[in-house]
Order: sequence, then C-alpha cells, then structure tokens
Amino acid sequence: MILEPTTPVSSADKAMQLEWKYGAHNYHPIPAVLTRGEGIFVWDVDDKRYFDFLSAYSAVSQGHCHPRIIKAMMEQAQRLTLTSRAFYNDKTGLCEKYLCDYFGFDKALIMNSGAEGGETALKLTRKWAYKVKGIPQDQAKVVFAAGNFWGRTLAAISSSTDPSSTNDFGPLLPGYIIIPYDDLDALEATLQSDPNIAGFMVEPIQGEAGVVVPHEGYLRGVRELCTKYNVLFIADEVQTGIGRTGKRVACDHEGIKPDLLVLGKALSGGTMPVSAVMTSDEVMLTIKPGEHGSTYGGNPLACVVTMEALQVVEDEKLTENAAAMGEVFRARMTALSQKTELVKSVRGKGLLNAIVIQERPDLGTETAWEICLKLKGNGLLTKPTHGDKIRFAPPLVINEEQMHEACDIIEKTILAF
Ligand SMILES: Cc1ncc(COP(=O)(O)O)c(C=O)c1O
Repeated sequence: MILEPTTPVSSADKAMQLEWKYGAHNYHPIPAVLTRGEGIFVWDVDDKRYFDFLSAYSAVSQGHCHPRIIKAMMEQAQRLTLTSRAFYNDKTGLCEKYLCDYFGFDKALIMNSGAEGGETALKLTRKWAYKVKGIPQDQAKVVFAAGNFWGRTLAAISSSTDPSSTNDFGPLLPGYIIIPYDDLDALEATLQSDPNIAGFMVEPIQGEAGVVVPHEGYLRGVRELCTKYNVLFIADEVQTGIGRTGKRVACDHEGIKPDLLVLGKALSGGTMPVSAVMTSDEVMLTIKPGEHGSTYGGNPLACVVTMEALQVVEDEKLTENAAAMGEVFRARMTALSQKTELVKSVRGKGLLNAIVIQERPDLGTETAWEICLKLKGNGLLTKPTHGDKIRFAPPLVINEEQMHEACDIIEKTILAF
C-alpha cells in the first residue's frame, strides 16, 4: 500500500510526490499532508482539521506549538543556540539540575534522539559493568524483552525481535540476551545463569509492540530481581514518560525507581529532539571526559525548551489529566467493543492506549490500516502498529468534551465497517 507517483493534481499530492521522488521510502505514512498544529489539532494543506491521536508517537504531549514552549524557544533562539560542550553555557547546568530535581536522580546526561538516549544508557551500563561490578573486559551482557523497540540505530535494532527492523542490516551487536516480556521467572532464570549480565533494559509498557501492558507487579519484580543480582534496571520511558500514562513516569505506577531512566520525545514538547538519561553518581561518573557525547547534546536551546516543557506538564496538571481522560477513553472503547466484533480488546494506561482489531476476511491484515484511512476521512489521525493494533495517544491537553467528540468519530467510523 505504498503511494505510487501520479500526476500532481493538488498541493497535497505534490507534497507526497516530492517525498516519494526525493526522500527515502522508509516510512508508510497515512496520506495526510499537514501544515499547521495547535493543541490537540492539526490541519492539512486543504485546511481540513484533524484530532491528532498519535502526537508524533507521544512526543507532542503538551499539544502542538504550545505558546509557552514556543515563546521560551524563540527567546533562547535569538540569544544562543549551540556552543557544543567544548565550553560551558549558562543553561545546561540549570536544565540538568531541573531534571534531577524533577525526576529524583543525582545526574542527567542530555542527548538528542530517544535512540541516542538508549545507546547512552547501554554505554553507561557497560562501563559500570567493568569499572564497578568487575565483569571481565568485553564480556558484559544486557538483557532485553522480546517485542522491545528503542529506535533504529544498530545498537537498538540489535535487540529487536521484529524482522522488519533487522532484515539485511546485520551483523548485529553482540552481548544481548532476549527474554520474554512480562515474565519474571524468565528474568530470574537468566540473571541467575550468567554472572556477566550488567543490565536489563525494558519499557514499562511496550509502545511500538502495540501498547502491551505487563501484569501488575511486573516492574516491582524487575526492581527486586535487578537488586538481588546486582544488575542495572534501565527503564526506557521515552514513550511512557512525562505524564503519558497518568503518572510522571510509568515506573511510578508501582512506586519503584530504576537505576537508569531514559527519556525523550515529550521532553521538548514536540519542538526539537531532546533525550536524557538519568542515573546515580555511581553510574554516571564511570564515564570520563572524552568518552561520550554529542555536538548538540545539552545545547542551550534544548535545555530551555526542556525546562519549559516539563514546567507546562506540572502547571497544567497534564499527568492528572492523562489519567482522567484515559479512563474516559477506555470506557468508551470498551463500550464500543460490546457493539462490534471488530474491536477485540482495549488496553493501555493514561493516554497511551490501543485497540486490537479483529481482521475482516475481505480486508485481512489491511483491516486496521483501512480503519485508520476512514478515521482520517472523518477527521482523526492515528496509525496501526504491528498490523492489527491501532494506537491512540492524543496530546495530554485534551479535555473531556474533545475526548467524547473524538470517541464519537472512532465509534462512528468503526461501526460503519
Ligand atoms: C520506548 C522507545 N524508546 C526509544 C525510542 C526511540 O526514540 P527516537 O525515535 O527519538 O530515536 C522510541 C521511539 O518510538 C520508543 O518508543
């Protein structure tokens, strides 16, 4: 279902054809050509308005073009944007302190993309393995859960169990062990069997896998096992963090703290790539000058935007709103699942949710995709993930009336199938 080039007839067609002709074909977008966004809405080049129920994969949690974040960004952009870390600047330290106070860690290392955040966490984990835990050189291993997704770099895809991520990209990185998700017995058996395990990296809810929510107690169990076997617990909260699931970070649902917390996406409210790894002095100080970094990592523009984006989450009580609106959404979708067999199940926490679609014989694996196309026609944007799941993750600024209006669109669209 890749868009084939056709003769341009509209500005939307032209925009899509430009991407097709001059861009890599590494995505399969829903054919909406967007030009403007505000709050929970985006508009296409024909000025049609849509509810954004994907939020750039949970990055635009504070809503599109949040006025406070944009103001902070513009003021800083006119002052100083990038110094590199060859010098100090007057914003990086402020942001690091802000992050440490906000998330309750000793130290923060600011990077750019989520994948870089994950790589940073892995490098810290390996360094800690050799410098602190005493694992013999080059023997450190890190455990991952099947179904994980943390980006597209070689380190990230090396832990993937999805063939479309890894096919023809080998050789992959060594030193990874994959176990089933949401399986504490498997984790314990693995940790017990190998003294060279340095860390376990896991998403508290697997977003890209289709919003897979583990059983209550899983994260607590992970925490206990990692402590018992002296293994670092790395929580990848790039998608689940910053209010998305109705808590500041999803680990808060079980009252536990990981050894390393990886954040990204909504850290900048959807304005620019910012990620961060939060951890203890013991772990962070294993990396010495010259051993890790990024030209743009921790730049003053990103730092100002990050502080404002997090302050907006606090001031507007977006975490609490995500919890409340998530309840409304799941109640509506559960009611819908009782009216149609197309909706097999509803799952999620806060405003990170998915419905699992029963494939229709005539549409097969395209069923969820066809539903998303019809949703687009009816004014709501989202995309299937892993075939039969449709993720719904609106900006956290959505109010109850808007949520009902959006649920009406979803209900009308699915019942029309
Ligand atoms: C849980 C998780 N970690 C990491 C990433 C990678 O982030 P980025 O696309 O910014 O590299 C993603 C992206 O979807 C993610 O969902």
